[in-house]
Amino acid sequence: MKALVYHGPGQKAWEEVPDPTIVDDTDAIVRVDAVTICGTDLHILKGDVPAVTDGRILGHEAVGTVESIGGGVKNVRVGDRVLVSCITACGACRFCREGRYGQCIGGGGWILGHKIDGTQAEYVRVPFADTSTYPVLAGVSDEQILMLADILPTGYEVGVLNGQVRPGDVVAVVGAGPIGLSAIMGARLFSPSHVVAIDLADSRLDAAKQFGADVTVNNSREDPLAIVRGLTEGLGADVAIEAVGVPATFELAAELARPGGHIANIGVHGEAVTLHLEELWIRDVTITTGLVDTYSTPTLLKLTTGHQVDAGRFVTHRFDLGQFEEAYDVFARAGDTGALKVVLTPHS
Ligand SMILES: NC(=O)c1ccc[n+]([C@@H]2O[C@H](COP(=O)([O-])OP(=O)(O)OC[C@H]3O[C@@H](n4cnc5c(N)ncnc54)[C@H](O)[C@@H]3O)[C@@H](O)[C@H]2O)c1
Ligand SMILES: [Zn+2]
Ligand SMILES: [Zn+2]
Repeated sequence: MKALVYHGPGQKAWEEVPDPTIVDDTDAIVRVDAVTICGTDLHILKGDVPAVTDGRILGHEAVGTVESIGGGVKNVRVGDRVLVSCITACGACRFCREGRYGQCIGGGGWILGHKIDGTQAEYVRVPFADTSTYPVLAGVSDEQILMLADILPTGYEVGVLNGQVRPGDVVAVVGAGPIGLSAIMGARLFSPSHVVAIDLADSRLDAAKQFGADVTVNNSREDPLAIVRGLTEGLGADVAIEAVGVPATFELAAELARPGGHIANIGVHGEAVTLHLEELWIRDVTITTGLVDTYSTPTLLKLTTGHQVDAGRFVTHRFDLGQFEEAYDVFARAGDTGALKVVLTPHS
């Protein structure tokens, strides 16, 4: 088969590799019908994720058709159309038993396109197939469901649910990339009074408006603190969600939250960040962090199938599987191309 193979920082190629085979009896081999690229894949290509080594097939998001199963697979059948989630779950370890699949210590967690070969390929081996895939119902497209492999559960769980968004809240979202937009979409489900999107890029703020932001703030020329305080009688946001992953945006999110408010960090941070406890200690704030667990995937599947969530809205560009080079280029230059999510299919 062909797959997108990582060959060290800055090096990748769509090349011929051996077909994946069943290794453990809980595995399934899935034919990839739709696959996308994540910001994390760009981090890997910069060399920021040393666990990814030369020869690894990238990708941790896919929708596909089950091609074969191991003898221990009980619920997934050959021919099933499934969502392959970014998080693999053994289903049996202490953390899986708590729904904390991202922390799985039984061989799962974020492994696809990281510790084992991933989904940017014609076929992928999915370990623990019963507990790591989700059946897809008729009536929704592959590309809609594909958005549930990573970005939608991440924005919803690590942003909206960790931040405990409630009806009437003012929710500030710092960063309006796919993750921030997912948080905006998820926050809307709770009828907030205002969602404020903050980003340096006007193109991202335009997208934020379409995804349900009431107020957009370009913090290169406007003061987000003044705007959020203006909406909240000087108090600050009930929930401030950080969806960028740099020190300045975490500090901004911390400043934006009201006394008693929630600061929900989603961003992956690569360097030390200052926590201004000397200012925050007296303000009763709750700070949360997290890796997505994907425990909300069944809920999001119902909302997508029932058309309460328009997941397909993220898809801005479409390519054939053989066009991975172009797809990565368009995705990496999102500022110029307006890309949110790109989708690759065997025959687009
Ligand atoms: N916690 C998790 O499980 C998890 C899962 C997936 C992704 N992430 C992380 O979420 C973050 C966002 O992901 P994404 O794919 O949306 O990234 P992205 O790069 O597409 O979007 C980030 C946005 O932040 C904006 N931005 C940059 N600096 C800013 C600043 N100083 N002020 C305001 N806005 C600024 C950019 O213009 C961009 O629109 C990343 O750090 C990613 O690694 C976390
Ligand atoms: Zn991802
Ligand atoms: Zn586990």
